[in-house]
Amino acid sequence: MAPEGGVTRAILTCSPYFIDPALNEIRRHHSQITVIQSISPGYSLLDTPGSFEELTRPWRHRLPIYLHHLFPVHVDIPLEAAFDDLKRLKQAIRRIAPSKASVQVRSTVEIETPGVLEKIQRYLAGNHVCHRPEPPTGQIVSVLIAPEQAGQRAYLGVSWAAHNLSPWAGGQIPVTEPVANRAGYKLLEAIATFSIRLKKGDQALDLGAAPGAWTTLLRRRGLKVTAVAPTPLYPWLAFDAGVSYQPMLAQEYLECCRTVFGVIVNDMRLDAQDSARLMVDYAAHLRQDGVAVMTLKLRSRNQQRVMDHAFRILRQAYRIIRVRQLISNRHEVTLFLRHKAAK
Ligand SMILES: C[S@@+](CC[C@H](N)C(=O)[O-])C[C@H]1O[C@@H](n2cnc3c(N)ncnc32)[C@H](O)[C@@H]1O
Repeated sequence: MAPEGGVTRAILTCSPYFIDPALNEIRRHHSQITVIQSISPGYSLLDTPGSFEELTRPWRHRLPIYLHHLFPVHVDIPLEAAFDDLKRLKQAIRRIAPSKASVQVRSTVEIETPGVLEKIQRYLAGNHVCHRPEPPTGQIVSVLIAPEQAGQRAYLGVSWAAHNLSPWAGGQIPVTEPVANRAGYKLLEAIATFSIRLKKGDQALDLGAAPGAWTTLLRRRGLKVTAVAPTPLYPWLAFDAGVSYQPMLAQEYLECCRTVFGVIVNDMRLDAQDSARLMVDYAAHLRQDGVAVMTLKLRSRNQQRVMDHAFRILRQAYRIIRVRQLISNRHEVTLFLRHKAAK
């Protein structure tokens, strides 16, 4: 669909903690974007000269760090909290949806009744696809419902799944696997986002493992895990012969570690530079073809400076393959690393 008057409106989704770096990421390629409105925390309505396809082209083959999702806005309609709303929304979708398009509905308004959004999505999609286990590949009708001063407003637009930065609504990869705690989503999202292939039987080192969602996920994939943490693990891990629990700090375990691992993961709640230094120390215990995943905590105001410093430290021993502020990350980013010595 051609931009009206040469201008495209688009909605950006990113973490509410990282709006400024996300907008900077766009401005680096498109200096003329304007933020029309912050719709909700983490959702911004933008104006950009040129097409939506041009807007997202810089990230077609390499994802940015902070931007989670973008979609064009072709229509927006006020909602009045009446059943008629859904009818009008469905008609609007019908008017813009090409045949075979999938419909993705999101709401920034908290909907407390479980399953209601799915029902709305199914109703609005009509004959269009609204849910599939595989990543959608064709055209998407994105619908975002957000509050405004009086009532709510729905923003709708059509785009190719491949142009939205993520084919999933808002960039949220659907998770069907159970996780023991919220941290578990981070590892699942990292594995999917970085296309990490874990080898059954490999030795993994989990630094800052407690209470143990990451160790549990690694065990489920058939890896043997050395779990290092000063606090206890979940009881089911204590009885698992495939888990070697080291009840100490990562700095202490370094002194007695004799294993070379295929995988190192690090989710330690630690200052970013200290965590990076420890990773460098542990590089001697990573196989040359091994991989590492770590979270970098960015709670301070100088996020960019802290991150750059941590990267400089890590580069002493690793190649930084990817950096992504995952949806399941809060004040942190996740890194995918390979051994510097790897061919
Ligand atoms: C966010 S939690 C990790 C959650 C874990 N990934 C999971 O899946 O359950 C952070 C952990 O890092 C641990 N930690 C902090 N500093 C550490 C250090 N120097 N060495 C080892 N663990 C540390 C904390 O005790 C805490 O258990």
